[in-house]
Amino acid sequence: MSAPARSRIAGTGSHLPARVLTNRDLESMVDTTDEWIVARTGIRERRIAADGETTSDLALAAARNALAAAGLRPGDIDLIVLATSTPDMVFPSSACLLQKKLGIRHGAAFDVQAVCSGFVYALATADQFIRSGMHRRALVVGAEVFSRILDWKDRGTCVLFGDGAGAVVLEASPEPGILSSHLHADGAYADILNTPGHVSGGGVTGDPTLKMDGGAVFKLAVRVLEESAHEALSANGLAVADVDWFVAHQANVRIISHTARKLGIPPEKCVVTVDRHANTSAASIPLALDVAARDGRIKRGDLVLLEGVGGGFTWGSVLIRW
Ligand code: ACO
Repeated sequence: MSAPARSRIAGTGSHLPARVLTNRDLESMVDTTDEWIVARTGIRERRIAADGETTSDLALAAARNALAAAGLRPGDIDLIVLATSTPDMVFPSSACLLQKKLGIRHGAAFDVQAVCSGFVYALATADQFIRSGMHRRALVVGAEVFSRILDWKDRGTCVLFGDGAGAVVLEASPEPGILSSHLHADGAYADILNTPGHVSGGGVTGDPTLKMDGGAVFKLAVRVLEESAHEALSANGLAVADVDWFVAHQANVRIISHTARKLGIPPEKCVVTVDRHANTSAASIPLALDVAARDGRIKRGDLVLLEGVGGGFTWGSVLIRW
């Protein structure tokens, strides 16, 4: 069998847990206001997973929606790449737990850990496997329960995050599809965003809640998102004006709008869903992508620029002809 040339997205799906936590709800938990959160972040509410509801549970619902959109069954999938920083357990991977829940017993399954860039890393990885001919149909998932690693007394971080999952089915195709992907990391920035605790000796050693230098993260995110966009477009001989949809990591409306303004992308081409689910880390890009694909904004032939940035630091882009 000759190697398929490219990969394309055959279907998208997403899922949010049922419980809504609004900014007003947070006012009774920490010293904050709805006005402050909306003005600084654009976030209005987030979803919180129920007790016992895990990353692989959220991933399962999103994966089923993506499979249905693609008109495929779980058995058609021969690769699962799941991006998460909040796995169900230390091991097995959440990808293997998702595989079990889907009833798939063949192919490969593994997790990717690149924090908020996780989905872009996972999609780039699956694209390479499909291009090489090693696999034909992949489920690429971003799923998180960040509510479990937050310090709910720290108003500087707990207002920013939520739980959720998004997924795409990626399949071999003679035509792109994914035009190119570009990944970067610089571990020198590990200190500005991290969750430093780890499991040892039967307990958690260190602090298992998220720590962040918000100002430093903001500046770095805007810089690398701008650089990544130019890198992806110039690699394909395309210009900013050719972009139909800009789907950036949904951390904060101000990061998205600052980046878009620096690039010259008008607000109406930016997909923004962070207001409804806050920052869901690796799930944020496929959540936004699914909303814009289902409401009919993203149409066949459109040029879609996905961009992620997150702890590590990690960042990158995937440019897609839809
Ligand atoms: N409610 C009310 N006041 C608050 C809150 C809150 N939830 N959080 C912080 N403040 C206060 C601070 O204590 C500070 O008070 P002070 O002036 O008395 O010291 C004041 O608000 C201003 O704080 P700043 O940190 O300067 O506020 P800033 O305008 O920088 O906004 C924010 C903070 C929203 C975190 C911003 O820095 C940001 O968006 N950073 C990016 C962080 C991000 O999105 N991270 C997501 C993870 S990383 C990723 O996904 C790439």
